[in-house]
Amino acid sequence: MKIRDSVLPVLRPVGGDEEIESIAESIRSGWWGKGPKVTEFEKQFAEMVGAKYALAVNSNTSGQDLILKALGIKDCDIINPTISFMTTAVVPLWNNCTSNIVDVRRDDLNICPEDVKKNLKSDTKAVIAVNYAGVLAPIEEIREFYDGFIIEDCAHACYTPGAGSRGDAAVWSFQAVKTMPCGDGGMITTDDKDLYEKLLPLIWLGITSTYSRSKSRNGTPGYAWDYDVDVLGYKAYMIDLTAAICLEQMKKLEGHLERRRHVQAMYNACLQEYIQPPVWSETVQNYSARVPAEHRDTLIDYLADKKINTSVHYKPLHKHGVVSGMNQRDYPVANEEWLKLITLPCHPAMTDDDIDYVIYWVKEYFNGVS
Ligand SMILES: Cc1ncc(COP(=O)(O)O)c(C=O)c1O
Repeated sequence: MKIRDSVLPVLRPVGGDEEIESIAESIRSGWWGKGPKVTEFEKQFAEMVGAKYALAVNSNTSGQDLILKALGIKDCDIINPTISFMTTAVVPLWNNCTSNIVDVRRDDLNICPEDVKKNLKSDTKAVIAVNYAGVLAPIEEIREFYDGFIIEDCAHACYTPGAGSRGDAAVWSFQAVKTMPCGDGGMITTDDKDLYEKLLPLIWLGITSTYSRSKSRNGTPGYAWDYDVDVLGYKAYMIDLTAAICLEQMKKLEGHLERRRHVQAMYNACLQEYIQPPVWSETVQNYSARVPAEHRDTLIDYLADKKINTSVHYKPLHKHGVVSGMNQRDYPVANEEWLKLITLPCHPAMTDDDIDYVIYWVKEYFNGVS
């Protein structure tokens, strides 16, 4: 097969005139910051995931950090899984906590309940459970022996049915290559009114939103310019220019997920002799297959030569210097499995020819080495 002219990206967003028009509408309206589009997005998102409260923020990372700050979780221990993105390891450190990294299960690479149980400390005050690659983490099993706070990291799970409903709060990501991207953005969802009310002032320096004050001054027309700040807040709210993209991406979500699942189904069907397919995912945030460890890096190089970009999700967090010192123990599953991981291209821009192209070259590689 002829080598492509352009590189096939491993992940990428897809948008069009609808997103452009939605941003243009915000620009023309004069309301660019946190305003009506953010409010509308929060409402629609809460409905989609079945949560009582939704608070839009500028990233999943900020969302996780603000939850800890809202609850006063600091100077303690926080458990998180080693196959994850840097956010879950680092946010505990920002709050002066130990980042207590645990192993994952072999089948779906989600947080391992037995390892959580083994590594619980007397001062463990939160567990961050990632729905890895959009597959639900075993939160119910963790609940059987742990009654502290659980943050459900739904960065990969927009939208896997049931995601966001099992933790005490869920945090979503709309970062540039997620299933519902807007460039950068996140959402906190919860049924906990008290937590929601604590979070509200934190997203803007303790100040109530300008938009909410722009309607009236205690019932009389005009802008209610005055505010009192009693709590230490941060700057982490979403703005209308990005909410404008999210609202359009949400309309396209099901179509985009269908395409991702089609890519997944094709890889599973055509490559099963050559790769270990991942556990079926409703979102396919990353199609992370496993291949024999001795072939992983050479396959990555081989595919790169054919203009196919791949990735690894993830190098285990305990291997990064920023947290390795506080996690000096064995990770038998992650240490073995991550060396086999390869993420193949999967995104809604992929055509059937693109899918066939990847399948062809993966097969060629393995047929050439066998
Ligand atoms: C599992 C996981 N958690 C958190 C994040 C952070 O999301 P954001 O970039 O919105 O802060 C990511 C981003 O890739 C992720 O994969």
